[in-house]
Amino acid sequence: MNIRCATPNDLMNMQHCNLLCLPENYQMKYYFYHGLSWPQLSYVAEDHGGTIVGYVLAKMEEDPEDSVPHGHITSLAVKRSHRRLGLAQKLMDQASRAMVENFKAQYVSLHVRKSNRAALHLYTETLKFSISEIEPKYYADGEDAYAMRRDLSEFREKCEADAEIPAIKGIFEAKEPIKQEQ
Ligand SMILES: CC(C)(COP(=O)(O)OP(=O)(O)OC[C@H]1O[C@@H](n2cnc3c(N)ncnc32)[C@H](O)[C@@H]1OP(=O)(O)O)[C@@H](O)C(=O)NCCC(=O)NCCS
Repeated sequence: MNIRCATPNDLMNMQHCNLLCLPENYQMKYYFYHGLSWPQLSYVAEDHGGTIVGYVLAKMEEDPEDSVPHGHITSLAVKRSHRRLGLAQKLMDQASRAMVENFKAQYVSLHVRKSNRAALHLYTETLKFSISEIEPKYYADGEDAYAMRRDLSEFREKCEADAEIPAIKGIFEAKEPIKQEQ
């Protein structure tokens, strides 16, 4: 199984996976909007034959009233045949890290149905999201949503630590090779 950043060629297969897994579906132009605006943020999981078995569609939130940069998970799904392998967790972590590295995101948000036990377990227990709000009748069928957030400081700290390593290495690496005395 391979997790990689989504390319424009993947968008149709991501839509296909979405249609198989979720009642919330989007027109192709919405996938292109994500892929063209934030090409670093969406990821796919593919099997050994290159078939897409899961995806996360992500973006940066463009809320002029909120000055804190933050990302948003538009959609996440893994095909039934490939569940409980840790793919959703990896997809979410990759997208979150990319939000921090590329846009200095401080947190990531999403919506989830109150009745979606598997996703709620993933978000609260595994990924440490917390509920920020309940949005009544958020979904087209009238179901309420939990609005959730995950603080991304752990990724920020890792990102800063990774940036320091080349700087430290640079101090110890001599610019010119040291000449040996004959
Ligand atoms: C929710 C979903 C994305 C999880 O994908 P996944 O790849 O199976 O999840 P992971 O293997 O990464 O699971 C990580 C953890 O999440 C929790 N989890 C995942 N599925 C679960 C389930 N069915 N019941 C309870 N906990 C679950 C577990 O804690 C799991 O860790 P564990 O396997 O070590 O116990 C997948 O079930 C799915 O695509 N569902 C339909 C679409 C959907 O609901 N998307 C989310 C919309 S908000």
